[in-house]
Amino acid sequence: MTPPNTLIVGDALQVLKMLPDNFVDVTVTSPPYNKGERDKGWLVDKVVYDTATDRKEEAEYQAEQIAVLNELYRVTKPGGSLFYNHKIRWVRGRLIHPYEWVSKSHWILRQEIIWHRKIAANLRGWRFWQVDERIYWLYKPRYKGDMIGEELNPRHALLTSVWEIPPERDQRHPNPFPIELPTRCIHSVLDGRKGVVLDPYCGIGTTLVAAKLLGCDYLGIDISETYIAIARERLENAEAERPRVLAELALHVVRKTFKERKEQGEWIGRFRPQPVTENEQIPLVKQVTLPMESDE
Ligand SMILES: C[S@@+](CC[C@H](N)C(=O)[O-])C[C@H]1O[C@@H](n2cnc3c(N)ncnc32)[C@H](O)[C@@H]1O
Repeated sequence: MTPPNTLIVGDALQVLKMLPDNFVDVTVTSPPYNKGERDKGWLVDKVVYDTATDRKEEAEYQAEQIAVLNELYRVTKPGGSLFYNHKIRWVRGRLIHPYEWVSKSHWILRQEIIWHRKIAANLRGWRFWQVDERIYWLYKPRYKGDMIGEELNPRHALLTSVWEIPPERDQRHPNPFPIELPTRCIHSVLDGRKGVVLDPYCGIGTTLVAAKLLGCDYLGIDISETYIAIARERLENAEAERPRVLAELALHVVRKTFKERKEQGEWIGRFRPQPVTENEQIPLVKQVTLPMESDE
């Protein structure tokens, strides 16, 4: 049995195969996206991992992801959750949706969450600027036929299925999570309980730092020794990141009763647009500039 609070340098699939059944409560992870590092224009060059390649045959990539998802299913306790972050990609004009392979795994798909990153990955006009990624909330049934699981506490459910969280800027890794994201995932399903949190592509350890600050045990795997060393250092200094975790937890509150929301047409009841005052009217032509980042 792997001791709690461990970091492992290795290939996610190979390490997962060595772990026991049914011991993880929540996994939050983001695998490499198989975008190819070198042949998609100057923006993509910035997303090069320390050790791993991000270019495989698509069929091979998807088969490996399904195998990883199924190993994660095996190691998860019945009733446990996996939050799997990925983006929609276009390859030679064909849309590749993560649901293609997520739906072939053993998991029950509980929800597709839109991660609205507020930053465009590519500013060409072939398509509307892509500012979203997806987070699949996947569920392992407690017993045969349990397709739904337990209800979320309303203070979490109120955060809705669109998460507006800007991406992290950290020079030590090309695309780490903002710590608010794993904090939201873990806190929403554990609701203050302690548990074991896993990230098989942990990079510089954001999920693990969130887990530690929430009082959970953690297990992280990454193929890069450099990233694991940074994760270790971050875990030692985790307290420095507590203010951001607390700011995220402060969003998990019920501020208005159901009746008040209904009366005000907020999320429930008939949608009522707020009247626009003369001063707030949008000018006909307005220059809007979104921040830009590398194409992940
Ligand atoms: C999207 S990043 C994850 C970043 C992480 N969420 C964080 O906050 O730092 C994907 C990570 O997968 C790692 N990786 C790539 N191939 C891997 C493999 N076969 N096994 C384990 N880790 C791998 C890369 O080194 C990279 O750190």
